[in-house]
Amino acid sequence: MSGHGTAQPMTARKSGPLTGRAEVPGDKSISHRALIFGAMALGETRITGLLEGQDVLDTARAMRAFGAEVTRQAPGAWSVHGVGVGGFCEPADVIDCGNSGTGVRLIMGCMATTAMTATFTGDASLRKRPMGRVTDPLSLFGARAYGRSGGRLPMTVVGAASPVPVRYATPVASAQVKSAVLLAGLNAPGETVVIEREATRDHSERMLAGFGARVHVEKTPQGNVITLTGQPELRPQAVAVPRDPSSAAFPVCAALVVEGSDIFVPGVSQNLTRNGLYLTLVDMGADIVFENPREEGGEPVADLRVRFGPLRGIEVPPERAPSMIDEYPILSVVAAFAEGTTVMRGVRELRVKESDRIDAMARGLEACGVRVEEDEDTLIVHGMGPGGVPGGATARTHLDHRIAMSFLILGMASKQPVSVDDASPINTSFPVFTPLMTRLGACLEPAQ
Ligand code: S3P
Repeated sequence: MSGHGTAQPMTARKSGPLTGRAEVPGDKSISHRALIFGAMALGETRITGLLEGQDVLDTARAMRAFGAEVTRQAPGAWSVHGVGVGGFCEPADVIDCGNSGTGVRLIMGCMATTAMTATFTGDASLRKRPMGRVTDPLSLFGARAYGRSGGRLPMTVVGAASPVPVRYATPVASAQVKSAVLLAGLNAPGETVVIEREATRDHSERMLAGFGARVHVEKTPQGNVITLTGQPELRPQAVAVPRDPSSAAFPVCAALVVEGSDIFVPGVSQNLTRNGLYLTLVDMGADIVFENPREEGGEPVADLRVRFGPLRGIEVPPERAPSMIDEYPILSVVAAFAEGTTVMRGVRELRVKESDRIDAMARGLEACGVRVEEDEDTLIVHGMGPGGVPGGATARTHLDHRIAMSFLILGMASKQPVSVDDASPINTSFPVFTPLMTRLGACLEPAQ
């Protein structure tokens, strides 16, 4: 678990040019789901390309606690002997989901319609994050949740002994909430319906259909209406996890801001619910060529050739936010090196991620000499042009992997080095970040 060990400060210095091939690890969202759906299928699911970051390892441990047999057979190759829908056993101890909001929220969903009690906790970051957004809809199935004030962990969920199906319109654009409701719906009789006004990542729908559940998605003027037929027998699958577009964002954006860079990033997802950052970078004038479009692990992917070049600030369309929600920290670094102003509106969800990401980016960018403006739902970055960011500060990362990686990339292109107070959370999503970036030509070193 992250956040339980000692902090690892790290410094990035002016680097580059970055060159070569960046093979990023497996997708975090799909890795969690492969383990969870595998645990709910009857028989052996085999997974290749699993992200072996701490968040996913914590989910693997949780699935064992609920009775599935989960084993690592080779790097990235895992086997899950699932217990079937409704087959979970009650965990003997508290489930510690570490840093992972996806882990805890999806797992709460999949135990909430089985007659058992489970208690969940996590690290200092996860214990600050709201769980009511998941336990509110789970209570409609008949589950009960008892947590700290504000719906915070640690929290005990008492699963419904006689669950009823639910029709639920998600009040926030959240794939975690949608997925928790669908997972709970698996063990409820009849049809569970989730309505989402704005489309969020659709991995749960795609993968549940792949595991043999009946899932129907209808696009309506009110948004996507997702109907799941309860109590299916999930069939075990062979899951090939594609590379993570949210991790690919870091080398891609580093190459865009470090002078002279030219890199190749294979297999980046072009799933329309995940590719908002790439559309935005192209709008900013980024030199990105999308080569060899194809399908991998059930996802549309392309290879990216990315070259340094001038960028212009833009107004990011707010309706794009759900498809790039994890990418705003690194986008605000790119914006700092653009000419002109980048306006990011409709981003209030960033305040309840692993950290308050609007605040973390604003404070760190200011400390590095970049002018920013913010309000509850907005972040505005005034660009300083290529190589124009002074740097020379230490950013606080608040146990947030994406804040840590973003400021290290800022330091690769700033005039003065940039440090982060703790790089250890990077291990939650991108354990090979430092060797991968170093091989491309980044100057990263432990800070004093
Ligand atoms: C995720 C959904 C998003 C995202 C997170 C992963 C998922 O969270 O930020 O990193 O795998 O479903 P929200 O559902 O809170 O938007």
